Amino acid sequence: MYPLRRNRRLRSSESIRFLVRETVISPNDFIVPLFIVEGKNVKEEIASMPGYFRYSLDFIEKEVKELWDLGLKSVLLFVKVPEDLKDNAGKEAINPEGLMQRAIKTVKNAVPEMLVMTDVALDPYSQYGHDGIIDDGKILNDDTTAVLSEMALSHAKAGADFVAPSDMMDGRIFEIRSLLEDEGFHDTGILSYSAKYASAFYGPFRDALDSAPVEAQNIPRDKKTYQMDPSNREEAIRESIMDIEEGADIVMVKPGLCYLDIVRDIKNAVNVPVAVYQVSGEYAMIKAAAEKGWLEHDAVMLEQLTAIKRAGADMIASYFAKEAVKLIS
Ligand code: PBG
Repeated sequence: MYPLRRNRRLRSSESIRFLVRETVISPNDFIVPLFIVEGKNVKEEIASMPGYFRYSLDFIEKEVKELWDLGLKSVLLFVKVPEDLKDNAGKEAINPEGLMQRAIKTVKNAVPEMLVMTDVALDPYSQYGHDGIIDDGKILNDDTTAVLSEMALSHAKAGADFVAPSDMMDGRIFEIRSLLEDEGFHDTGILSYSAKYASAFYGPFRDALDSAPVEAQNIPRDKKTYQMDPSNREEAIRESIMDIEEGADIVMVKPGLCYLDIVRDIKNAVNVPVAVYQVSGEYAMIKAAAEKGWLEHDAVMLEQLTAIKRAGADMIASYFAKEAVKLIS
């Protein structure tokens, strides 16, 4: 061994480090989440996500062109639903003229090659801020998946390339795949939030969409009856394999950093691409620490993104996409 083996030889210069580098992030790795609101000329910064904005449709056009020019080729759309359109049935979610449906068309018009993914879940449309329809304090699984599949179909009709169910109801991938096939949308893909944990890191996102679960009679203010327990590992593999059997093209782990063991487990267990969502709270933590001068923003950002990819992510949904590609391209 030593001194024949000196591991530092392979670290001794920038050039050799480039040569032996195992994980490299590139613009091709990213999915860019976009928050969309009604109105004109709106670009509102999200208080708990400094540097991240809600855009009205006219601004979205400009934004996706900019993303495309930076080499970013996929977006994941979320809409902030006006309060008066929220209910306990997801009626607005399947409105062909709804904000999401218009947003899909806007993006496709602006940049036809941009891959458009859409969030499929009822929480932004729910008066209670939950991902399902509620009756007597319970989230109704099958009633919810029936609406989710209609919602996915309406996104497909508007031109979405992939639908991304983030609700964690049982059987929703099967219901969505079946309806898409029945209606002739064979090429519309499904990116399933398969291992989505009941995480405390989603707070800033719920600020962005004003979608936090509300205090109401008999309804838990958390999502623990459908999102996964952070303590569980084998369950994540089970969820992912079931979603693939039901028809998911891509599975996802969410959040990222605290769940890199899960990412690696799933990467080893499945043979479809694995996505990771670096969520709003992860973004906010880095921004806050950097603002305080306690962490070096760019270095920490790139280290975390690299770690997510190294763990097994084939793609990363990240609020840092734009900032990161500016540094790495
Ligand atoms: C909606 C949804 C959430 C996120 C993505 N889709 C919030 C939640 O489940 O409460 C969180 C994303 C983030 O925090 O960045 N179902």
